[in-house]
Amino acid sequence: MDELEKQKHAVLTVRKCQRNWDSNKTIPQEHVDHLVYLATNSPSKQDEIRFGLCVITNPDTRKILYDDYCWGYHRDGNDAGRNNQMGGQLLFVYAKIKESDFGRDTIGITVSESTSKEFDERTNINRERDIGLSMGIVSFAAAQLGYKTGFNTNLFYNKHSPKDWRRILDIDDPTWHPQVVLSIGYPDETLAWYQSRDLEYLEADPREPDLENEVTLEHYKGIRKKWTDMTIKTFGPVSHDTKGNPKPKGIPLKIIK
Ligand SMILES: Cc1cc2nc3c(=O)[nH]c(=O)nc-3n(C[C@H](O)[C@H](O)[C@H](O)COP(=O)(O)O)c2cc1C
Repeated sequence: MDELEKQKHAVLTVRKCQRNWDSNKTIPQEHVDHLVYLATNSPSKQDEIRFGLCVITNPDTRKILYDDYCWGYHRDGNDAGRNNQMGGQLLFVYAKIKESDFGRDTIGITVSESTSKEFDERTNINRERDIGLSMGIVSFAAAQLGYKTGFNTNLFYNKHSPKDWRRILDIDDPTWHPQVVLSIGYPDETLAWYQSRDLEYLEADPREPDLENEVTLEHYKGIRKKWTDMTIKTFGPVSHDTKGNPKPKGIPLKIIK
C-alpha cells in the first residue's frame, strides 16, 4: 500500500469504533512508547498543558475499568451494556486538569487569583481541542501501525466519580477529571468490528430516583443481568455499511483554487 492509501485506510479505521478485542495479544512496548511520545508532544494553543494522561497496559487495571467503568450502551431503555470499545489492550485516559499558565495569561486580565467566566470558557474549549488533537494523532498513528481503535466518553455510569478513577489509577491530583478514553489494540478476528459477545448489562435499582433526568445511575449500584435473546450484540455501524464500505460523511466542503 502506498503512503496515501495507507493514510486513507488509517482514517477510516479510526472513523469506525472497534467493539471487540483479542485478549490473548499484547502490544509491543516500543509501540506503546511511540504512541505516548506522540500524545505528549501533540500541539496545544500557546503550548500550554490543559489535560493529563494516564496510559494503561496493566491487565488488572484494564479489567477493573472494563468490568465496571464503561457502562452506558442502552438497548431497551432501562438497561445499559458496556461500551465494549474499552476492552483494548492499551488505554489512553485523557483527563481535565488545572491548566498551566506558562505564558502568564491570567496576569493583566485580573489582579486577583481568579479568572473570568469567559476566560475559563475559552480554556475549556482549548482543552477539548488539545485533547482532540492528541487523540487524533495517536489514533491515526495507531491505525497506521495496524491497530484498531475506539473512543469512549461513558466513564461515570453506575455511581462512579472522578475520585473513583483517581483511586484506581493512583492519581493524587484532585483536579484530575477523566473526559474520554482512547482504546487501542488487536481485534477479535472472528467478529466484525461493531459486534461483541459481551451480553452483560446493568438494570437500575428500583430505588434509583428520577431516571428520566439522571441517566447514569447516580444513587444506587445497578443490578447485573444478561441479555438472553441474542448471542452477539451489535452497535451500529454508523460510519460504514456492514461490509465495511465507508458512507459519505457529508461535511460541507468548499475548495478554493
Ligand atoms: C471523540 C469521540 C467520542 C466517542 N465516544 C463514544 C462513546 O462514548 N460511546 C460510543 O459508543 N461510541 C463513542 N464514539 C464512537 C463513535 O460513536 C463512532 O466513531 C461512530 O459510531 C462511528 O463508528 P461505527 O461506524 O463503528 O459505528 C466516540 C467517537 C469519537 C470520535
